[in-house]
Amino acid sequence: MTTGKIFEVQPGGTVRGRFRVPGDKSISHRAIMLGSLAEGMTRVSGFLEGADALATLSAFRAMGVNIGDPGQGRLQIEGVGLHGLQAPAAPLDLGNSGTSMRLLAGLLAGQRFNSELTGDASLSKRPMERVTAPLAEMGAVIDTAEGGTAPLRIRGGQTLQGIRYDMPVASAQVKSSLLLAGLYAKGETWVREPAPTRDHTERMLEGFGYPVLREPDGWVGVRGGGELRGMSIDVPADISSAAFFMVGATIAPGSEVILEHVGINPTRTGVLDILSLMGADIELRNRKEVGGEPVADVRVRSTTLHGVEIPPRMVPLAIDEFPAIFVAAACAHGTTVLTDAAELRVKESDRIAVMADGLQRLGIDARPTADGMVIKGGQFTGGEVDSHGDHRIAMAFAMAALRAPEPVVIHDCDNVDTSFPGFAELAAAHGVGLRVVGAGDP
Ligand code: S3P
Repeated sequence: MTTGKIFEVQPGGTVRGRFRVPGDKSISHRAIMLGSLAEGMTRVSGFLEGADALATLSAFRAMGVNIGDPGQGRLQIEGVGLHGLQAPAAPLDLGNSGTSMRLLAGLLAGQRFNSELTGDASLSKRPMERVTAPLAEMGAVIDTAEGGTAPLRIRGGQTLQGIRYDMPVASAQVKSSLLLAGLYAKGETWVREPAPTRDHTERMLEGFGYPVLREPDGWVGVRGGGELRGMSIDVPADISSAAFFMVGATIAPGSEVILEHVGINPTRTGVLDILSLMGADIELRNRKEVGGEPVADVRVRSTTLHGVEIPPRMVPLAIDEFPAIFVAAACAHGTTVLTDAAELRVKESDRIAVMADGLQRLGIDARPTADGMVIKGGQFTGGEVDSHGDHRIAMAFAMAALRAPEPVVIHDCDNVDTSFPGFAELAAAHGVGLRVVGAGDP
């Protein structure tokens, strides 16, 4: 039995136009969090009005922060200061959003009050010990369900102590969770990642006037007890959302798009490097810096791709873009090999298993491995795939239809709204034959 929205995508088409995809999800979450903890007003433009960032927004409203209703990406946050949050009356439901849960775990570990974090079925399966274990070393008291998963029950009123933590996984969420806890800890809290990950938390803390400490061998830290000052934030378009159109325009002959004002922070541009390595025709224009984050217009024209061995160092820099990259690899000449990407198995779905299954259903020789995939470029057939409620998998397969001879039907697409509200309409307006049909079998 199928539930939720279905994408029915007609075969073929070209992707054309000049447009801006919605705001960056990672930056939108952090704008709400840091804006709430700042002294004074924070004004945000380009905010992503998707379910994940809205879950963070609701959580802070539930803790007494006055946040205006977002409209056309604009909102205002009346910061309450680092010690101004109030106890929420009920558990904070963070829906599908791993970023909300992991970052809030750190932030709430340092509050005077108790709190509880819950999520949907997917989020309730995702590993949380990666944050609760180091937070416990800092003195946090957090109960998890068996297996270290949500719900998280956080006991307030603890005195946190800064630690030095060498992270076992390259995760911006873990790094950010500890830095946020560090704002409340005695002394200094330092983290080091095994490979660089997105640094939006560090950049935004500095934008809010909070000093970020750095040591030459990769350690980054904060000293507790400082203050954040409200500011204006211009959220760039999300490169993770732009990635679907980069791939669509690359694989559909005759395509050309200009994606405007895309965030090109170097800790996020793995997708540009990997597609370029495969031979994609991508040009960055009109580069500038907005509020501490680099942006550019990204022009993509269709071209023939070739398979590559994806360099492991690029993996954390493209961690959310692999569903789209796999579709590109399926259209390339030759074989693409991904390794060192076991993290994909603990995203909104097991993206290695679910993507391999979908690609196989569409006629592609895709072999999942423990930490990646081997994809032989070939010819898509039409067919039906299941996104398993994973927004990025649904959108990636919508692009596959551009190279299929028959329609591609994608099930369980409701969660596309978590990161990319309006995706179906935007894709349809720019050449993807996508139609949304209602829930399936009763
Ligand atoms: C995010 C970090 C990444 C990424 C997620 C957003 C963030 O997760 O996959 O979509 O905003 O910090 P990990 O830190 O688990 O790699």
